Amino acid sequence: MDFATVNRSGTHCSKWDGLERKFGKDDILPLWVADMDVAAPKAVQDAMLDRLRHPVYGYRLYSDSFYQSIVDWYSFEFDWDIEQEWIIPEHGVVVSINVAIKAFTKPGDAVLIQTPIYPPFVSSVEYNDRKVLDNKLLFKDAKTTIDFEDFEQKAKKAKLFLLCSPHNPSSRAWSRKELSQMVDICHHHGVIIVSDEIHSDLVFSASHIPIATLDKAREITLILHAASKTFNIAGLNTSYLVIPNPTLRNKYLNAHQKTGLDNGNVFGVVALEAAYSGGKEWLQELKEHILANKEYVEEFMKNRIPEIIVYQHDATFLLWLDCRGLGLDDEKMNSFFINDARLGLNSGISFGEAGSGFMRLNIGTGRDMLKNAMSRLELAVQKIRA
Ligand SMILES: Cc1ncc(COP(=O)(O)O)c(C=O)c1O
Repeated sequence: MDFATVNRSGTHCSKWDGLERKFGKDDILPLWVADMDVAAPKAVQDAMLDRLRHPVYGYRLYSDSFYQSIVDWYSFEFDWDIEQEWIIPEHGVVVSINVAIKAFTKPGDAVLIQTPIYPPFVSSVEYNDRKVLDNKLLFKDAKTTIDFEDFEQKAKKAKLFLLCSPHNPSSRAWSRKELSQMVDICHHHGVIIVSDEIHSDLVFSASHIPIATLDKAREITLILHAASKTFNIAGLNTSYLVIPNPTLRNKYLNAHQKTGLDNGNVFGVVALEAAYSGGKEWLQELKEHILANKEYVEEFMKNRIPEIIVYQHDATFLLWLDCRGLGLDDEKMNSFFINDARLGLNSGISFGEAGSGFMRLNIGTGRDMLKNAMSRLELAVQKIRA
């Protein structure tokens, strides 16, 4: 498979056409928002073209085959047999975070999160007038870890824990031990776990562990997933939840129905089914491509820009770069990347204060783009060295 960069200019995509809006200039390389510059699998393109030929695009039901394709995907990807009735389709993972907050907490309740984190985790809690309890992640020796003592102290006061597994932006896939420890604490203190597993098909270290498969977790967890990151179809706004516990499921459904979001995106549903049934080989090759991109950047940093350390990357097409060795504060670093290196990355600080000194690099692109990015970065670093 050829995963060369697809030129997306002029398609009104956030990542390329939104550079000016985000960074104040458009002559920089787009390596930020979490989608990829690779074409979606042919099976997905064909299925959507086929649907397009029917000229009516009205409200869409979720068919039996939609649910079955998710059941089959879980069995194939995670070796876990789920039941159709555990699945609730949704219009996006962030939508489901908001609905879950409404369903399981009241205004003023505390919600546990772990920053730095994908920003809607914080804004969804605050917008719903709940309180954020932040178990800040730790960054040491090129690895992201959890402060479990602090986690337990905060879990005692929380009603809900919004977990990101694998974690964006750090690219960690939590180990079985770490996940079990979080589950045990939440179970003990009566905390419901909403686990955002949108990046779980792109795990490289070991197999992803869906949280509800762990001891004690099944009764207290909701899993949020989608085909969107995996197959580069995020613009189709289609996702789903897996909730084995019927009480939690009904509570979620009640809140979901009251928000009036019961019909599917015509193309999103078709794309998900096509991706799950016809995209396996594509995904395998994509994973090899991302891994090779990771190795390329890692080697480049080691040999040419040792001031920047690539953190342990277990999952996702995102690299968490420790840039503290450049000796710049966050404002200067942001400006350095945009104006000197002419690169559009997400600053670590935009994911919360705990991300200070880091940058997030999107490697879900062609090697040509990354090579260009690395040489721009090296030239700019040479200037600050001098
Ligand atoms: C961890 C995480 N959750 C959710 C989303 C967005 O999901 P959706 O577009 O389905 O709302 C992203 C996108 O970057 C993400 O990284």
